[in-house]
Amino acid sequence: MRVVTLDAEDDFDGWRDAVRGLVLDHIPPAQVVWQVGDGPGELFVGMTHQPPREGAFSVPRPFIDLARNAILHSDRERFALLHTLLVRLRDHPKLMDDQADPLVCRLEGFAKAVRRDIHKMRAFVRFREMSDDGGTRYIAWFEPEFHIVRANAAFFVNRFASMRWSILTPDVTIHWDGKRLTEGPGASKADAPDGDPVEAVWKTYYASIFNPARVKVGAMLKEMPRKYWKNMPETALVPQLIASAQARESEMVTTAKAKIVPGSNIAAAWAVLREEAMGCTRCHLYKHATQTVFGEGPVDAEMMFVGEQPGDQEDLSGHPFVGPAGQMFDRALGEAGVDRARVYVTNAVKHFKYELRGKRRIHSKPDAGEITACRRWIDQELALVKPKMTVALGASAARSLLGKTVTISRERGRVIELPDGGGAAWITVHPSYLLRLPDEAARHEEYAKFVADLRAAAAAI
Ligand code: URA
Repeated sequence: MRVVTLDAEDDFDGWRDAVRGLVLDHIPPAQVVWQVGDGPGELFVGMTHQPPREGAFSVPRPFIDLARNAILHSDRERFALLHTLLVRLRDHPKLMDDQADPLVCRLEGFAKAVRRDIHKMRAFVRFREMSDDGGTRYIAWFEPEFHIVRANAAFFVNRFASMRWSILTPDVTIHWDGKRLTEGPGASKADAPDGDPVEAVWKTYYASIFNPARVKVGAMLKEMPRKYWKNMPETALVPQLIASAQARESEMVTTAKAKIVPGSNIAAAWAVLREEAMGCTRCHLYKHATQTVFGEGPVDAEMMFVGEQPGDQEDLSGHPFVGPAGQMFDRALGEAGVDRARVYVTNAVKHFKYELRGKRRIHSKPDAGEITACRRWIDQELALVKPKMTVALGASAARSLLGKTVTISRERGRVIELPDGGGAAWITVHPSYLLRLPDEAARHEEYAKFVADLRAAAAAI
């Protein structure tokens, strides 16, 4: 019997080094005991802590991706199951494509649960403001289901690079001082502070994005499991928001929209929303895109423009409508007398979807599922900005805003109402449609109609 001792529950590198040696030495999975830290190794004869073994063999990339995530699961058999799969892959290199294989299925299930936990941590960590000798420090308490904290640390370092923060969890604590990431032993909830001024921002954010016409308690619980509620200041508002939903719905329809001062809590709430969207994994598109391209513009804009999805240049720069379609859009806005600096510009889908042709990334239309997955962001942008007029540029934007497929030529040219008290909207073509028209005369004619639409939408406010 071989005993392999890994340094930690999430010690992927240790597992990889060890399993390489085991496979090269033809040690079958049944003859290996995996343990973490100081396990009951003395019960076994021939116990070794293997040094990395020289030698190599190729492993399919999807297996490595699967193993990196699955190893963070808490199932004690995960190390052995991954070893077994690795051995089987040597005889059946295509095994990873066999989604009906029980072992592949089980490990995919582990990886999926881990990815979900990673996402939950990104979405539900709430920092409380504290001061210590070094100045302000933000502290959060979080209870992950799996061993994901170290794997998630880079995300928090990137997102909150300029803050000093600590995330406390039962197994490990991680600390960022603006330059260096360090870790310490696990903590308890009592070590984390309760309520502070940052809560005001979360509460404003949540109260403003709460759309009473869309209260679906089941869906809310799915997105924000009760387990995390106790750490999230905004959830204290939920019962009261649901109770007053009816009243707020009619108020929302009839009340004039309040003027928002940039720099106020709405701006902070928008920043929080954008931050959250940066870690979005609600559909698969995040995997191949460079980054989330969130909406931009003043949070008190009277007009919001919604495109389809970022293109190649938007994906690289992180800003909406900066490529060829964006330049066409800017020119048309100018001719319609609308100042781009005063409008809010966003997209129905926030990640670039494309197909590779050689080295070129060719735009590919988002499907209904991708548009629906991204609705969460556009709904909240609308709820925060509360534009007097929302212009849908093209069919995907119209589908996202209206929740159904519409024919642009039929809806164009008049103000329509968005569902759920979402306000006035105007539907027109997407600027890239104009770029694609092969005939010069048709292009001129369609461009003039587009400018006329923008002008009419602005005038209808
Ligand atoms: N097309 C869009 O719909 N949005 C962009 O941001 C760029 C091109």
